[in-house]
Amino acid sequence: MSLKNVALEVRENAHAPYSRFKVGAAVRAASGTVYAGCNVENIASPEGTCAEAGAIAAMVAAGETRLTEVYVVAAGPQPVTPCGGCRQKLAEFGAGDVRVTMATTDGAETAMTINELLPGAFGAGHMTGN
Ligand code: THU
Repeated sequence: MSLKNVALEVRENAHAPYSRFKVGAAVRAASGTVYAGCNVENIASPEGTCAEAGAIAAMVAAGETRLTEVYVVAAGPQPVTPCGGCRQKLAEFGAGDVRVTMATTDGAETAMTINELLPGAFGAGHMTGN
C-alpha cells in the first residue's frame, strides 16, 4: 500500500474526540517497511500524542531507527503541517533531505524536507566538545 493510503486508512482510527481533528501519518523506514500512526488525544490534553509520534514509535518498536519518507494527512482547508515537537522527532530519525508530504483528505498535497521544516535543528553536533 502507498504511504498515502496507509496514512488515510490509519487516520480513521484517530482518537480525537476533543479537537475533532483526525490526523494520519505514515513513515517508510530504511528497510522499506511502512509504519502508521494516528493522533491519540486525552482528556488531560497535554497527554495527547500526534500522528507522527505514533508512526515513529511503531517504527522504533519494530526495531528500525531510520526513516526515508513521511506522509501526513488531515481534513482541513490546507495540508496539515507537523507541530514543532514532531519536526524535532522527525529530525531524530530522518536525514535533512527526507521528504515530508503534507496533505488534505481532499487530495491537496505540499512537500518539504525535514531541513526546511526545522532549519537550524538542534543536533548532536551542538554537543561535541562537552
Ligand atoms: N496533530 C497531529 O497529530 N499531527 C499534526 O501534524 C498536527 C496536529 C494533532 C494533535 C491534536 O490531536 C490535533 O491534531 C489538534 O491539534
